[in-house]
Amino acid sequence: MNKQQAEKEIHQLRALIQQYNHDYFVLDAPQVSDAEYDRTMCQLLDLEDAYPELVTPDSPSQRVGAEPVGAFEKVAHRVPMLSLSNAFDEGELRDFDRRVRQGVEGDVTYVCELKIDGLAVSLTYEDGQFVRGATRGDGTTGEDITSNLRTIRSLPLKLKEPTTIEVRGEAFMPHKSFLALNQAREARDEEPFANPRNAAAGSLRQLDPKIAASRNLDVFLYAVGEWEEETLASHSERLETIQALGLKTNPEWKKCATIDDVIDYVNHWTVERPNLNYEIDGIVIKVDRLDQQEALGFTAKSPRWAIAYKFPAEEAITTLTDIELSVGRTGVITPTAILEPVKVAGTTVQRASLHNADFIDEKDIRLGDTVAIKKAGDIIPEVVRVITEKRPDNAERYAMPEHCPDCGSDLVHLEEEVALRCINPDCPAQLQEGLIHFVSRDAMNIDGLGEKVVGQLFREKLVQTISDIYRLEKPALLELERMGEKSASNLIQAIDQSRSNSLEKLIFGLGIRFIGSKAAKTLAAHFKTIDALAHATYDDLIAVDEIGEKMADSVVRYFSEPHVDELIKDLHALGVNMTFKGREPSTSVSDSPFTDKTVVLTGKLEHFTRKELKDTIEAMGGSVTGSVSKNTDIVIAGEAAGSKYNKAVELDIDIWDEARLQEALNA
Ligand code: IVH
Repeated sequence: MNKQQAEKEIHQLRALIQQYNHDYFVLDAPQVSDAEYDRTMCQLLDLEDAYPELVTPDSPSQRVGAEPVGAFEKVAHRVPMLSLSNAFDEGELRDFDRRVRQGVEGDVTYVCELKIDGLAVSLTYEDGQFVRGATRGDGTTGEDITSNLRTIRSLPLKLKEPTTIEVRGEAFMPHKSFLALNQAREARDEEPFANPRNAAAGSLRQLDPKIAASRNLDVFLYAVGEWEEETLASHSERLETIQALGLKTNPEWKKCATIDDVIDYVNHWTVERPNLNYEIDGIVIKVDRLDQQEALGFTAKSPRWAIAYKFPAEEAITTLTDIELSVGRTGVITPTAILEPVKVAGTTVQRASLHNADFIDEKDIRLGDTVAIKKAGDIIPEVVRVITEKRPDNAERYAMPEHCPDCGSDLVHLEEEVALRCINPDCPAQLQEGLIHFVSRDAMNIDGLGEKVVGQLFREKLVQTISDIYRLEKPALLELERMGEKSASNLIQAIDQSRSNSLEKLIFGLGIRFIGSKAAKTLAAHFKTIDALAHATYDDLIAVDEIGEKMADSVVRYFSEPHVDELIKDLHALGVNMTFKGREPSTSVSDSPFTDKTVVLTGKLEHFTRKELKDTIEAMGGSVTGSVSKNTDIVIAGEAAGSKYNKAVELDIDIWDEARLQEALNA
């Protein structure tokens, strides 16, 4: 065969394989046997081997061709990728319908679609060739995951027409791929993914496309981002047209002329949802006519012509066996429900925060109750309600204790706080929490002094106050259970090293109310020495950029306490540095998932301490702040996250669970 013949043959084989792929992966209707498919692919591979100069990127042999990348490039979305506002019940759907009909002229038809629970992606085709695929990112800028998307076999590398178009859709992991992946992970003793969405997101964030290829992802396209040649008048025509171009659309969409029809569709899929072989988390309802869409326009975040109906979160029923009370560093008493372990949305839940007394009261939660729990946003376990019919006869209303579960002092409500607090400055639980805070990463960062060892030292009365840490000597440490020679030496060395920390670490470590690590840095950089800070007046403090009234007030109060003066003197005498040493030059990382992102951490994470994670995110170019606002990019939510999580949902901020986080860190 000469080169010309080979070229012709290669073209034919590619067209054939493209057709086979389309039949199999897009239409779910294979026309040839696997053996026939493999034979055709082998022929193509052989020819391309013989004539490497004839290999083109759109060849079906080139899906996994790309080399691993160091990091993902940024991609700006010329048309922003918005999200949708949500409806949680029929009433909210009817409200949406009213708003729509008021806002447009003429009859309204809706298109209802399944809301695929995956990862939004944008695909760009130039002259029919797949050239770029990106994540949604923050809606304005995403990441270039072309190499990974190319491995999705239902995604055509070449369209049926040589048009230039940007289409959008959802990449997802079908149940079958998900189960196989988790089985394989468990066999290798790796943590399974909690749900297919995390698995899909994790797969697409792999730097090596071979890994993504092995994950068997799929994609449904449901929107047009940009298409200059477009002449269509409705969304339904768009769906039909992109399908005709060879792109995979979800077959279950339906036109509905009335909101009652929409509600029927919603009800139908609420029941049928378990029979699908992929995960959906709701229904998307879109106004069909494009001129009406245009008339309705957008809010800052989402189109007014579409809404997402969200299915209620999966619930599980279990028994509340106990309510555990913990005393935080600032004396706040937090009740936690101890539950009979139960599986919900992919993970086993055995604890749920009960937040405070009001929460328990409102829900009338009692010991021994059977409770319905759900994972809010499929992440944080939450008690939804009590199944009162199943209440044991003798169950009494739960009363928060009047005394601190640790030191027995009277508990109080401060000002208008819901929280109950122990205000005993000598409360052992608080002191211990205070010590744990002092040695933590962002504070004095004393390696080897974890929660357990601090607990031991505290119970053995070797350490009662912060300054005692600097009085520790090796022989005393060796008395502790499970403390070997080497650990003891290391610990002494770590303690010694911490003496030379820059001032901000000490300020943060003191645990002054409202002074987080960022404010501590600000204060250290401004006042330079602890003496200057201790003598600063409210006015001096408030004059510092980023120091608010509450903070200023708290600092003044803190340093006016008599024992603080003594503490500082002690620390000084024990050789602890009390001056600001200047910021370390920050290395900027331009291409990590956290670059320039503002991240908020909430809840308890299984595999990271807060400080570790914060350091890591900062090292990767992100910044970690304490509260959720519209400037927050990502909220990382662990178990028992509370109000920050709710705020993030309210503001429609990207919420990551731990699996998603780990994928980002591995990426
Ligand atoms: S339309 C302008 N249709 O849900 C908004 N979205 O918050 C265009 N999603 O980010 C989105 N299935 O990731 C649309 N059939 C569908 C969808 C869908 C899943 C996701 C998408 C989007 C989020 C909406």
